[in-house]
Amino acid sequence: MKELLAKRAAEFVRDGYVVGLGSGSTAKAFIEELARVVRERSIEVTLVATSADSEMKAVEVGLGRFLAPIWAIDRIDLAVDGADEVTKDRLLIKGGGGALVREKIVDYRASELVIIAESHKLVERAPSRHPIPIEVIPAAWRLVAKDLEKRWGGRAELRTCKCGGKLGPLVTDNGNYVLDWTPPGPAYPELEDEIKAIPGVVDNGIFAKRRDAVILLADERGVFAL
Ligand code: 5RP
Repeated sequence: MKELLAKRAAEFVRDGYVVGLGSGSTAKAFIEELARVVRERSIEVTLVATSADSEMKAVEVGLGRFLAPIWAIDRIDLAVDGADEVTKDRLLIKGGGGALVREKIVDYRASELVIIAESHKLVERAPSRHPIPIEVIPAAWRLVAKDLEKRWGGRAELRTCKCGGKLGPLVTDNGNYVLDWTPPGPAYPELEDEIKAIPGVVDNGIFAKRRDAVILLADERGVFAL
């Protein structure tokens, strides 16, 4: 299904485009497909990655020469990204892979945003199965966790690293920590900015401001747009 979604998303790519590469396994399927499309169509693109992981994937599939740092580009024509949860109202929860800060920088600036996700990510209300990830400055993590629990309730936990032999907190590509907050009720659009206003918060995984995104979902019958 990820391959089908990747193929559909690749149809949005045009010669000369600056393309934002999302993060996660579905976004990686798109990066693979993009490599094929760029080769077959002999097109030129500039690519900005939302994580070290996606950057490495791009290099691995032969797209390295097209990569540029985010700070060096003046526009993003298209971004293709995944999501952890999607509501019918087009609110997204992202950041399962800890890449939400750069994803938001890129996704929010893209002229066109295409979200690709398997259909089980479509939920009645979000968050349903995932907490809301919140990237925080390390020195502030405990204070922010307390602020969240005091103001809204629920439970905020520091994300720990289960990779290799690393002990302790997960450190993002930006050198920060991630809190996974399970709120007592559903997220609402204003919550995105309310969380962001807490001192020490870099950004959070509520993406409520790209209601114009093309959202492509896939199940065993194929790909359909939300
Ligand atoms: C990473 C993300 C991803 O887009 C999200 O976690 C979906 O990943 P996958 O396609 O592997 O299910 O937000 O920070």
